[in-house]
Amino acid sequence: MGTSPSADVDDRLSAILAISQKMNSERDLGNLLDLIAREATKLLDCDRASIFLLDKGKNELWSKVALGSNQILRFQADLGVAGHAVETGEIVNVRDAYQDTRFYTAIDDRSGYRTRNLLAVPLRNPSGEIIGAFETLNKNHGFFNAEDETSLTALASHAATAIETAQLVGNLRRSQDELAEQNGHLRREVASRYSTHGIICAGARMQQVVRLIERIRDSSVNVLITGESGTGKELAAKAIHYTSSRSRKPFVALNCAALPETLVESELFGIEKGVATGVDSRIGHFQKADGGTLFLDEIGDLSLLAQAKILRVLQEQVVERVGSRSPVRVDVRVLAATNKDLEAAIVKGTFREDLFYRLNVIHIQLPPLREIREEIPLLANHFLTEYCKETARAQMHFSPEMLRKLSVRDWPGNIRQLRNEVMRLAACSSGQIIAEDDLWEVLPPARTAQPAKAPAAPLGTLKDAIEQLEQRMIRGALEETRNNQLQAARLLGLSRQGLINKMKRYAIS
Ligand SMILES: Nc1ncnc2c1ncn2[C@@H]1O[C@H](COP(=O)(O)OP(=O)(O)OP(=O)(O)O)[C@@H](O)[C@H]1O
Ligand SMILES: [Mg+2]
Repeated sequence: MGTSPSADVDDRLSAILAISQKMNSERDLGNLLDLIAREATKLLDCDRASIFLLDKGKNELWSKVALGSNQILRFQADLGVAGHAVETGEIVNVRDAYQDTRFYTAIDDRSGYRTRNLLAVPLRNPSGEIIGAFETLNKNHGFFNAEDETSLTALASHAATAIETAQLVGNLRRSQDELAEQNGHLRREVASRYSTHGIICAGARMQQVVRLIERIRDSSVNVLITGESGTGKELAAKAIHYTSSRSRKPFVALNCAALPETLVESELFGIEKGVATGVDSRIGHFQKADGGTLFLDEIGDLSLLAQAKILRVLQEQVVERVGSRSPVRVDVRVLAATNKDLEAAIVKGTFREDLFYRLNVIHIQLPPLREIREEIPLLANHFLTEYCKETARAQMHFSPEMLRKLSVRDWPGNIRQLRNEVMRLAACSSGQIIAEDDLWEVLPPARTAQPAKAPAAPLGTLKDAIEQLEQRMIRGALEETRNNQLQAARLLGLSRQGLINKMKRYAIS
């Protein structure tokens, strides 16, 4: 300390530079605050240093009680010497703390420290905004001088930047943790939705399907899924993917029927930038599904050319983007689905036999709903529960008679059609129990759309004949619907009021 003043200033500047470098490599706010305090006490040759940060939302200043402590002290932002520095942006140099009205003695009371003198400067971020105050306490010899004021101000500007960076990093880390947490939650939800148990099954035939899916869980063999429209092919494909070891990688679905011949290659394999004017580079479905599963839906609709190209990828496990000569290795499991008879297509020459065998390593055949009627009550209840959950309605139920009616229908659209009908029934019904009457309103059976009995040869004038026919049809419809006027009106193609008018005219009660 016995050097000339200018040498002293130089020493301090280089010390501040060194401290600032240390501060910039500390990203944890707690550690950074300790580091700043420790370095400031050395630099200013004093006993303590504190950093007060402004919590704008609460208009409070907070600080660590002591170096290395996790205990936090909070007080109103306009209190104390620190509060004064924050409010005015001024440097505050106090020689005798207990004689200064700005000094907030409660801080000493709470920390058990005895402040003699102190120096406070505002902490300004690079855009000039005050984010807190920086205080040094109890100069080891004498009082804080003008040089200390300059040094602390210089140190404060570096400290403010480092603090803001650490706060930003902390916020980013927190949101990253939150996102990871949410992501895990969604992943678990998806897994439970498509776990094999997401496939509702009661009877032996569907249980066989589920067992097969469970058995191939750990292998990556290609699977061909066949079945009529709406039998659950896509649901089965998702169950295979989400229960497999590939579940953390993407499930990519491609509808082959919607793929025009000219786009086959670029959609499947991607395209290089500039292949044609205005074309940006794009990756294809095979690369999107890398590590995961590619679901080729409606594979029976693929052209022979496209079949040849897919076969090559399956054989060589590499794709070449349109306009590029360098092949890219891909690791993709292919699940293919169709409602067509591929074996018949092979005979006709519209489907390649070699591709068929590549895809058909495992075959899952989903039965049409009319062959697994035993599933209908369970499925119907499952869709009804799903509807109630989605619309936040209290749980509804089907009457036993209603379930029986649903079970004997033919369901050409299979499980999808059943699901749609359940949704419609639920939406149309106002009570807790969906009974037969509701079905009548929504699904007038095709058979009864005509008058119950063919009219006998009419007598008299045409007007008489028409009236006779009308009366008979109205009586027939009322009988058929057990006097439900609304349903009878529908059967007759009339409004309810129209039916009532005619009933009055013909004195039908
Ligand atoms: N076993 C099942 N359990 C529960 N829901 C099912 C079941 N099978 C099918 N579904 C539901 O039925 C609807 C139709 O299923 P999906 O789309 O998988 O049929 P698909 O065979 O792919 O039909 P398409 O041939 O028309 O594409 C979906 O809403 C699906 O969730
Ligand atoms: Mg489908």
